[in-house]
Amino acid sequence: MSFKALVIEDGPQRAHIRDLTRDDLPNSGDVLVRVDWSGINYKDALAVTGKGKIIRGDLPFVPGIDLAGTILESSNPEFPDGSSFVSTGWGVGEATWGGYSRIQRLSSRGLVPLPEGLTTRDSMIIGTAGFTAMLSLQAIQTHGLPKNAGEILVTGATGGVGSFSVLLLSKAGYPVTAMTGKAAAHEYLRSLGASEIISRDVLSSGAHRPLDKARWAGCIDSVGAGALEATLSQTMRHGVVAACGLAAGPELNTTVFPFILRGVRLIGIDSNTCPHPERRAAWKELAIVASEFDLTSLATTIDLEAVPQACEQILAGGIQGRYLVDLRNTDL
Ligand SMILES: NC(=O)c1ccc[n+]([C@@H]2O[C@H](COP(=O)([O-])OP(=O)(O)OC[C@H]3O[C@@H](n4cnc5c(N)ncnc54)[C@H](OP(=O)(O)O)[C@@H]3O)[C@@H](O)[C@H]2O)c1
Repeated sequence: MSFKALVIEDGPQRAHIRDLTRDDLPNSGDVLVRVDWSGINYKDALAVTGKGKIIRGDLPFVPGIDLAGTILESSNPEFPDGSSFVSTGWGVGEATWGGYSRIQRLSSRGLVPLPEGLTTRDSMIIGTAGFTAMLSLQAIQTHGLPKNAGEILVTGATGGVGSFSVLLLSKAGYPVTAMTGKAAAHEYLRSLGASEIISRDVLSSGAHRPLDKARWAGCIDSVGAGALEATLSQTMRHGVVAACGLAAGPELNTTVFPFILRGVRLIGIDSNTCPHPERRAAWKELAIVASEFDLTSLATTIDLEAVPQACEQILAGGIQGRYLVDLRNTDL
């Protein structure tokens, strides 16, 4: 039986839809899975377009950091044949072949049994982006930020991480200010729970002084660079900033003053290598959110063929919410 996959190969046009058979899949891996849904993350966009050095395996290579579906064959009793799983990170789609293939072989090391009440479709609307937003919310909660401490800023608010950050913070009872570069997205952000919206221009040029007027009790930042610099200078005493992205760039020019004079906590988030107990706990929390809120409004559903074009759009900053990739009709 053959099936479709998006394969990265050498040459000017990197991404091709190819017909593969099981013999084409990697030999290593203790589970063979059928992928029903995948998604597109910022890193996937860099990998597919070649605009960032994300792929660490040899070409040809199948990218796709996120995948969800059904176990077809397994030697791990925790993932019996026919059971549903969700997988994000652990180097899948970067070091080993990933989710843009109807059938895939991979290690069960990174899989999470699909939590009760969550569909595989909703798990891929969430994907790495929603999982990262949940880890960021949990960092804010673990560091003891009370819900009445003040406004929590979300940067890159219409992106995947940003959209879920707005939703999860507001569901948890925090007042959310969303920062966006998209003037047309205000209604969308309010529907996710943002109470205030500010333009990207307000913070992108960086901090005006090491300690500015304090406005933010906390922040989930997926943008980095100037926005993170400005946010740190404007964070209140004992505020918590979860840094998880670099959509505007990796640089960070700051001083120690926010940390030593206001006790600001800057917490790094890495969803890729998040340990198993925290990973499973976060997915259980996400399943509860998905049961209470219709995630469809965050998703644009596309098929495998449309992935390369969608990746270009993501890198141009044009995405609102998440791309959901439907692989269910790719059997040949
Ligand atoms: N640490 C982790 O574990 C982890 C996990 C997932 C993602 N990430 C990182 O988080 C970032 C966002 O990922 P994502 O999947 O949410 O990407 P995304 O869906 O493409 O969203 C990024 C958003 O950032 C804003 N943006 C884009 N370019 C910008 C610029 N030049 N200056 C300021 N804002 C800009 C846009 O939102 P607005 O138009 O609303 O401003 C855009 O929608 C990426 O850097 C990604 O690598 C990290």
